[in-house]
Amino acid sequence: MSDGLRKGLTSYGDAGFSLFLRKAFIKAMGYSDDALDRPIVGITNTHSDYNPCHGNVPQIIEAVKRGVMLAGAMPMVFPTISIAESFAHPTSMYLRNLMAMDTEEMIRAQPMDAVVVIGGCDKTLPAQIMAAVSADLPTVVIPVGPMVVGHHKGEVLGACTDCRRLWGKFRAGEMDEAEIEAVNGRLAPSVGTCMVMGTASTMACITEALGLSLPMSATIPAPHAERFRSAEQSGKLAAAMAVAKGPKPSELLTPAALRNAQVVLQAIGGSTNGLIHLTAIAGRTTYRLDLAAFDRLSREVPVLVDLKPSGDHYMEHFHHAGGVPKLLAQLGELIDLDAKTIYGSLRDAVAAAEDVPGQDVIRARNDPIRSEGAMAVLSGNLAPRGAVIKHSAASPKLLQHSGRAVVFDSLEDMAARIDDPGLDVAADDVLVLRNAGPQGAPGMPEAGYLPIPLKLARAGVKDMVRISDARMSGTAFGTIVLHITPESAAGGPLALVQNGDVIRLDVEARRIDLMVEDDELARRRQALPASRQPAPLRGYARLFHQTILQADQGCDFDFLTGQGGD
Ligand code: FES
Repeated sequence: MSDGLRKGLTSYGDAGFSLFLRKAFIKAMGYSDDALDRPIVGITNTHSDYNPCHGNVPQIIEAVKRGVMLAGAMPMVFPTISIAESFAHPTSMYLRNLMAMDTEEMIRAQPMDAVVVIGGCDKTLPAQIMAAVSADLPTVVIPVGPMVVGHHKGEVLGACTDCRRLWGKFRAGEMDEAEIEAVNGRLAPSVGTCMVMGTASTMACITEALGLSLPMSATIPAPHAERFRSAEQSGKLAAAMAVAKGPKPSELLTPAALRNAQVVLQAIGGSTNGLIHLTAIAGRTTYRLDLAAFDRLSREVPVLVDLKPSGDHYMEHFHHAGGVPKLLAQLGELIDLDAKTIYGSLRDAVAAAEDVPGQDVIRARNDPIRSEGAMAVLSGNLAPRGAVIKHSAASPKLLQHSGRAVVFDSLEDMAARIDDPGLDVAADDVLVLRNAGPQGAPGMPEAGYLPIPLKLARAGVKDMVRISDARMSGTAFGTIVLHITPESAAGGPLALVQNGDVIRLDVEARRIDLMVEDDELARRRQALPASRQPAPLRGYARLFHQTILQADQGCDFDFLTGQGGD
């Protein structure tokens, strides 16, 4: 038998002794033989004092344990890495794959028949799903849920679209120090994840669309009682999956499920980071995410959810309007409702979707926020393997634009010069940041939202075309081209741009081009130094540097993908 406590015995060369020893030690915790004979549901604990977004995890764990025990199984909680956006240096993305490795290997190493993973802050759900796909044990995902909204002077506030907007006002001199401090205490009024359609909310919605979590689990606010009832239900379901030995992620993540997730990503006005994470998740399966197909979907799928930064509302409003099930219902034939889930099929979720009279957060197909999807995939001589723009959160007048390049060679260079009164920059220029990609920074920081140079901000400029090989927070607004691939540190054409070159953005034609002759570009390439900085000599930094894939492959490590490395 290889279930429950008998699974994955430690290697001593004598299986009977291995089990004897394991039971002897676990009995130190006071467990009875009856408890130890039950199917085991592992529960990941990602609570951390450094992760306020996961502040409700202890209460979620208690609810999951209750559900597991009500269903007659045995819950076992174990810690994994936790990553919070604003506490991770150099950037949380640098650690996503480490969390995925940790989670995958601890699921494999310890005896459990099913696992409940609890995550939420941006990189955690992707890391946990990547791990679950690779470990391929029956898995229930529980997002921690969004924060409730804040208020300031009669205005509704949300982290972190309003963090950026109001910081921009402060930089422009439109808000004084005392007021920005007051705002600082009101932007995040509860535990939970950012309550706009940032990366955390995007990934929670994608998780629900993939069928890996219970209906409504993406949107229930983090402090609400309903969040903990849903966790209890998740525990019960995980216990049943432990007995049934399925469904496993490999049974759920089919091409139909992955396509559904892409449709939802477009329809919610999701974060551009969601595309990288979904690419990485698909990369753990035998399927691949096709960027050209994703772009074709962007012409077909309307944005239906009216949430910041593309729209006006916040996650709790999305929840009260019917959440992801209602959205799936509105999307109609764009969604394959036969896609299997941990609880049945998406058809079950849609059948139970609530009809909320008068709600205007989840629009009908004939009354969309935008008739096209949230983001477009660009190509061109600046991005031979692609780039992305969230045009639903951009200035329409800048979507077809040519301008003079103002180049920053690195994050440090940008920080040193962007506010220099002597910087030669005008509102219709194109700000360029390079060496901020997966390998270059490293970890592809969310630096693609280049600040408007101070002198222009003070003159009232709110948006400019900005391009980079970096990522951007899903909470940000602007005409911003991201994930330029290959990145400049890997020899991508972004490395060849010089101040004063003309860059042309044409979102309708899906192009981003450097208007410089090919022979001049070839000459510049010859003059490039071999490498900007030496490879790290040891540790995780070296592993990262040697194996990180580009954005079009989800920035996974090459040896962690479905087919593994060379
Ligand atoms: Fe954790 Fe936004 S900082 S979700």
